[in-house]
Amino acid sequence: MSEILDGLEFADLAAGHDAVLEELTLTLVREADLPDDWLATTVDCYTTEADYYELAQYRHIGPLKARIDEFAADHVATTSAGAVFDVGVGDGHRLARICGLVAERCGRRPEMYGVELSSRMIERARARGIHVYQQDMRLGVPDVERELDGVLFLSGDLGFVMDSLVGPTLRRQALDSAYERLRAGGCVILELVSRDPRAAEGGADVFYFSRVPRVDSDEDEGRAITGPQTWQYIKTFSRAEAVALIEASRFSLADASISYVVRNSADAERVGLHVADNEITADESYRLLISLKK
Ligand SMILES: C[S@@+](CC[C@H](N)C(=O)[O-])C[C@H]1O[C@@H](n2cnc3c(N)ncnc32)[C@H](O)[C@@H]1O
Repeated sequence: MSEILDGLEFADLAAGHDAVLEELTLTLVREADLPDDWLATTVDCYTTEADYYELAQYRHIGPLKARIDEFAADHVATTSAGAVFDVGVGDGHRLARICGLVAERCGRRPEMYGVELSSRMIERARARGIHVYQQDMRLGVPDVERELDGVLFLSGDLGFVMDSLVGPTLRRQALDSAYERLRAGGCVILELVSRDPRAAEGGADVFYFSRVPRVDSDEDEGRAITGPQTWQYIKTFSRAEAVALIEASRFSLADASISYVVRNSADAERVGLHVADNEITADESYRLLISLKK
């Protein structure tokens, strides 16, 4: 393990916005060297964070997430918008929000489905009317007995499809299972954690990080709640790796759109903006945002 960015303040993610953000401690490991308990560690993290996950998401990195949700809704709204599946649905707030945006665009609110391992997150997602399967996403998208119009891997969630022996093949299988479940004309949205160029040494590609979320609970008094420290593993992707994954899958690269959502921009107006490769500097990259079409 190489300690690369100790105590990185993610406050810069929302430069120009007044949100309080999380503190991060980050190390980088190779997928091949993952410890046996990496998945349990990761799911425990989300169980611990369940109570304030939604608040933390929208108070902390709201401008970024809002752009991504609109991108997802724009694509889903071009389908027949009957059913959307979120892989690693968490508490379901983003799936519900995206489906609301889809309804605004095309007048049809999709039925919502998801897969998730954490029981605490599942309770919350079900309360939002989402049909949730308690299953490991690494087994692929389950059969919901109807064709899907959209399959979402938000918040870097394809990065939880890891195995120290199988590696990229498992992610290709996950994409192909999404292809299998989609109606012709349906789409996949991938929000991938893009690899920070400062960290791209020695083939290490998995972030192991702790975060301490801080949430403004009371805007009038300006009080902040600090959440417990949690730890998780997530795989990051370079653009070339994402392209290779799509090429190996049943989706066509020619029908794909691939761009970045930026962070760290000196120009606050650009934070969260969905930009093309030629408009980005390495330090700005944060998420790769991809749409695929069946
Ligand atoms: C980063 S959160 C994203 C939640 C939601 N999609 C969003 O964008 O807000 C990832 C979720 O995936 C779940 N998860 C992680 N690994 C999983 C696995 N192998 N199978 C099913 N769920 C998993 C975690 O419990 C967590 O709730």
